[in-house]
Amino acid sequence: MSGFEVIIYQKRDGTGYVTLNRPEALNAYNLRMRDELYEVLGAIKDDPEVEVVILKGAGEKAFCAGADLTEFLTAPSPIIARQVRWERDIWGLFLSVDKPLIAAMHGYVLGSGIEMALCCDIRLASEDARFGLPEPGLGIIPAAGGSQTLPRTIGRAGALELLMSGRWVTAEEAYRLKLVNRVVPRAGLLAEAERLAGKIKTHNPLAVSYAKQAVTRGLDLGLEAGLKLEARLGRRLLAL
Ligand code: COA
Repeated sequence: MSGFEVIIYQKRDGTGYVTLNRPEALNAYNLRMRDELYEVLGAIKDDPEVEVVILKGAGEKAFCAGADLTEFLTAPSPIIARQVRWERDIWGLFLSVDKPLIAAMHGYVLGSGIEMALCCDIRLASEDARFGLPEPGLGIIPAAGGSQTLPRTIGRAGALELLMSGRWVTAEEAYRLKLVNRVVPRAGLLAEAERLAGKIKTHNPLAVSYAKQAVTRGLDLGLEAGLKLEARLGRRLLAL
């Protein structure tokens, strides 16, 4: 796939690499990025050659510095800017990808940058990563699912503190909060993501996908319904 302006998509040995590519604006998420991610995630879902996806940011300084503030300023109001974003359910699409998604984060990881990573299954951070949700300071709340995905990932108290205070945390603290799975030196970030992707790819992709679905869909169910879901998926896998 080509013709993208603000992301780069590459496919190598069963891994899809999605790179947020606006380094001059710290990879801030704009409408163009929404549309290109929408296109690429749809393709990833349908492409049997892609078994694992690595999401990363271009440039030295950031994974993603949140929503593009210049779009906020040109829209009649932040509310309208947000409404435009909702016209395409990019976050629903992200969460519906039933293949493993790995976020490899460095530098600034702010606002929708964190929320994008929360749509992934495994989050790796380099030692220089800094996480924050500037939304309350801008008079808004997260609009990329963060108010739902953050507490499901790190629990209620930690999520509320980050969401209400806007306090930034280091990679180490993000690890303690369970926002990231691992912290690695900056130079080894991509290699660690690729090592993990390689390990996942040694397994049956359907078993991996069903395991992901059992966990992610099960989290929103009661235990009884979750166990039924697991049994259903297990039977379906064996019947294939
Ligand atoms: N939207 C649009 N442009 C952004 C941006 C954003 N969210 N974040 C950074 N940029 C741009 C800057 O305007 C600057 O552009 P310029 O070189 O044309 O002036 C460039 O990226 C580099 O950013 P700069 O502020 O110079 O880097 P810094 O290291 O001094 O500071 C931040 C980095 C992240 C602290 C600072 O850029 C910032 O606070 N950004 C906004 C974060 C935010 O509120 N995001 C919205 C969440 S809802």
